[in-house]
Amino acid sequence: MAIRSDIAGIGSPEDLARALRDAQYLASLDLATATYLALALGKPLLLEGVPGVGKTEAAKALGGVLGRQVIRLQCYEGIDSAAALYEWNYARQLLALRQAEGGSIDLYADQFLLARPLLQALRSPGEVLLLIDEIDRADQEFEAFLLEFLSDFTISIPELGTVRAASPPVVVLTSNRTRDLHEALRRRCVYHWIDYPDAALEAEIVMTRAPRVAQATAEAVVASVAALRAEPLAKPPGIAETVEWAEAATLLNAQGARWPEAFARAIGVALKDQDDIAYLAGRLPQLLPGEAA
Ligand SMILES: Nc1ncnc2c1ncn2[C@@H]1O[C@H](COP(=O)(O)OP(=O)(O)O)[C@@H](O)[C@H]1O
Ligand SMILES: [Mg+2]
Repeated sequence: MAIRSDIAGIGSPEDLARALRDAQYLASLDLATATYLALALGKPLLLEGVPGVGKTEAAKALGGVLGRQVIRLQCYEGIDSAAALYEWNYARQLLALRQAEGGSIDLYADQFLLARPLLQALRSPGEVLLLIDEIDRADQEFEAFLLEFLSDFTISIPELGTVRAASPPVVVLTSNRTRDLHEALRRRCVYHWIDYPDAALEAEIVMTRAPRVAQATAEAVVASVAALRAEPLAKPPGIAETVEWAEAATLLNAQGARWPEAFARAIGVALKDQDDIAYLAGRLPQLLPGEAA
């Protein structure tokens, strides 16, 4: 296996972490290392973690760093290979057939082909990053099909022939781990579990994404969010909720709301499930951020 030691000017995991930071994505060194190794080894990167920890965003930021267009295949229950690979444009075929008025016409020419994400990625592997998002939502059959795709980067179109990628494309897969993925699929990838960031990193993310938020506010929100995540909630706040809660409370505070109260009034930005709110009910005041001068 060819090891590429320098990818788009990125010479080390630390380099990659810096470049991601410039793209407003603050990665732990572990994540930067796994990502760097996936690139260097030419393997897909599999990011697993609960919703809201920054998996999709990591792939998008990486696309930006590499100067590659992100092509996203969003998985869902019942997704099939047609939605992932290609479909024939029946409407255009029909129209062309009518216009040909009995003359001869090639209905399986490229102009009638609708390239879906996997085919798009094969056609320009050097220019794109293929994001296969939330693969755990797809069924096992689709997963097996993906495994095959990731093994040889080849698609066979009966009417057109075989399309093979000139080089393996950069691929990132994500999973919310609502179920376990195939052993074989995991073996093919470089794997990284994204955890919630530690307090210092999450406060930094807040201040990067919402520059108007004061450090004390960011730290107070981060501590409160950590306490909320320790509760058995249906929808624990993700990183986006931390950022928005801090931002919303800062806004209310600028308009005159006092400190602990500004957090309480902006709670709908952090907790978005009525069962969770009911579950916390009387204890909520103690779980809210305290002072934030
Ligand atoms: N490490 C990070 N640095 C900066 N922003 C982040 C980071 N992780 C998450 N975010 C923010 O949190 C939001 C939610 O992340 P997302 O990638 O959608 O989570 P997931 O795909 O894991 O459910 C992103 O849009 C981004 O604003
Ligand atoms: Mg996501």
